[in-house]
Amino acid sequence: MKEIRLVSIWNPKGGQGKSMLAINLAAASVELGLKPLLICQDQQGTSMLYFKAGNLPFEVMDTIPITRPNADIIFFDHQASEWSVPNNHTLVMPLKPARDQYATYIDAYKRAEALGKQIITIVTDGQEHRASEKETTEYLRGKGAFVIPSSGVFSRAASQYLTVFDAKMNKAYKVRERRVEISKILGAILIESNKENKE
Ligand SMILES: Nc1ncnc2c1ncn2[C@@H]1O[C@H](COP(=O)(O)OP(=O)(O)OP(=O)(O)O)[C@@H](O)[C@H]1O
Ligand SMILES: [Mg+2]
Repeated sequence: MKEIRLVSIWNPKGGQGKSMLAINLAAASVELGLKPLLICQDQQGTSMLYFKAGNLPFEVMDTIPITRPNADIIFFDHQASEWSVPNNHTLVMPLKPARDQYATYIDAYKRAEALGKQIITIVTDGQEHRASEKETTEYLRGKGAFVIPSSGVFSRAASQYLTVFDAKMNKAYKVRERRVEISKILGAILIESNKENKE
């Protein structure tokens, strides 16, 4: 039986882009011909709301299924304030580069690193014109982080409960750039989870 790849989207700080990444990474997986499943581990249920709106090309569940799901890759959208490091080996950690947000990421990163996790960092929603945010972004980029700049396409897509991969978003400003960035992150996830499966 083929392995199901398990990926946790985690940062204990609220509002860092976990749900945004979870739904868009799942959508990028569909584009690649994979069958993703998204597990919404958040009481607020952001990704569950998207699913209930009926526009997603993949399934979202709010509990871990008891029987083996029919999926190639499962994304776990974790909730804010969850400090315990997720069990899955591959972690995607989004953060906003504003100074007051950054400290939580550093603490959480150290905990995950100490447990030997494979961590993929994504700087989201950075404001290029703010020197301190730019500095943090470039520092993390230098350490291998991916960057998704601040972009109106996410709120535009969110207002209709769509992913940025939805055809209805085709004409949105810079949507292609955002799709490429998210697809590259998925590529990195697939490479990392391959290593894990071969260990
Ligand atoms: N690159 C970006 N550009 C613009 N807005 C963004 C970007 N990334 C995330 N956002 C916005 O930031 C807000 C918070 O994102 P999201 O809900 O995904 O965070 P979260 O970490 O899941 O929050 P919570 O911890 O409350 O579950 C959303 O409105 C989202 O659209
Ligand atoms: Mg969320």
